[in-house]
Amino acid sequence: MIVKPAKNILGAARLPGDKSISHRYAMLASIANGVSRFQNFSTGDDCASTLACVEALGVKVRRSGDGGVEIEGAGPRLHPPIAALTCGNSGSTMRMLAGILAGQDFPSELVGDASLSRRPMARVVEPLLRMGAKVSAADGGRPPLRISGGRLTAIDYAMPVASAQVKTAILFAGLFAKETTTVEEPMRTRDHGELALRAFGAEVQRSKNRISIAGGQSLQSISATIPGDISSAAFFMCAAAMFPGSNLVFDDLLLNPTRAILLDVLAGMGARISVINLQDHHGELVGTVKVEHGRLKGTKISGAQSAALIDELPVLAAIAPFTEEGIEVRDARELRVKESDRIAAMAKGLRAMGATVEEFEDGFRIPGGRQLHGAEVDSAGDHRIAMALAVAALRAYGESRIAEAEAVSISFPEFFQILDLLADR
Ligand code: S3P
Repeated sequence: MIVKPAKNILGAARLPGDKSISHRYAMLASIANGVSRFQNFSTGDDCASTLACVEALGVKVRRSGDGGVEIEGAGPRLHPPIAALTCGNSGSTMRMLAGILAGQDFPSELVGDASLSRRPMARVVEPLLRMGAKVSAADGGRPPLRISGGRLTAIDYAMPVASAQVKTAILFAGLFAKETTTVEEPMRTRDHGELALRAFGAEVQRSKNRISIAGGQSLQSISATIPGDISSAAFFMCAAAMFPGSNLVFDDLLLNPTRAILLDVLAGMGARISVINLQDHHGELVGTVKVEHGRLKGTKISGAQSAALIDELPVLAAIAPFTEEGIEVRDARELRVKESDRIAAMAKGLRAMGATVEEFEDGFRIPGGRQLHGAEVDSAGDHRIAMALAVAALRAYGESRIAEAEAVSISFPEFFQILDLLADR
């Protein structure tokens, strides 16, 4: 994909549904009673992997071309699949579905593509084993996952890694346990799993960082319009923030406080951000966001903020050279085990464009006040790297060529079309 420089970012858009919520709604709809109806379901390949997996487990799924998805819930008992369940590139599918499969009394196997096959699974195997499921990963705790479950035992589990996928897997498995399962997170992570369980009628308690769910609760189908994906919006919001004269509006955008930290960070750096029309959709905060340019100072991100911004760190790296003081990120070691090693991939791409990048095991420091030039860069097959490098390319001199840019279809197939609509050249 060739990306040409832009003058600014102008316009309004509604984005396809949030990926994290789409996965969870699809999984819970599958084990609920009744037919769930979704509008604006994620258009990405990852959520398509989740739908294909639940179909292979005997669940009826009907898709209409415009983001409509209908799922006929099978109730808590799914059907044994006839082949391995293919999760593609999607860590969310593999980890969260493992929680539901741990409660099924048949054997199943979850497989992934080359990237997913390198990602850590011990973090989800461990708690599910403690709940009494038979779960095994390949050497070094990598996929494929083999699971044979049934009636589970409730656990009280302190997660060693802050991971919303693992938390959600344990809470889903908790539905199949006799008593109350509690999971404690070391840092606050996105809470869509808890909110989705409540939306489908389950009771979930939270006290500080401890979340509990009683086993044996049955779920009821819902109808929902899925809010626009804020992690997709992040690429355009960061792009808008770096161009004087930008004016960007997103309607019906997900603004769940565990996901919207980027708005605070951009505002803290100097961008002008306003939020109106706040509404509650099944417990999720949704609203309209406007982003305008301001002099971007730069910032340092660490600790809980790094965990909360994990999917947005590549695009923050992309705009760092155009801030006054640059951006430093620490405590983000998890970036190295995402769809690619995102620290290495961003460092390589930005250096090719003329940026200075200091790499740490757990982050990076990128000085500001720089000018970048167009270059040949590589997404490393990672959707968020492709989009982040495209954002850097918008303010570089000359055009850039991004290899493996088709990876954007994992979360946001429309990215380059919407970029063409919003980028004023
Ligand atoms: C997600 C959680 C995060 C995030 C991923 C989606 C989710 O991963 O990076 O893109 O939907 O729960 P972790 O669970 O590893 O934190």
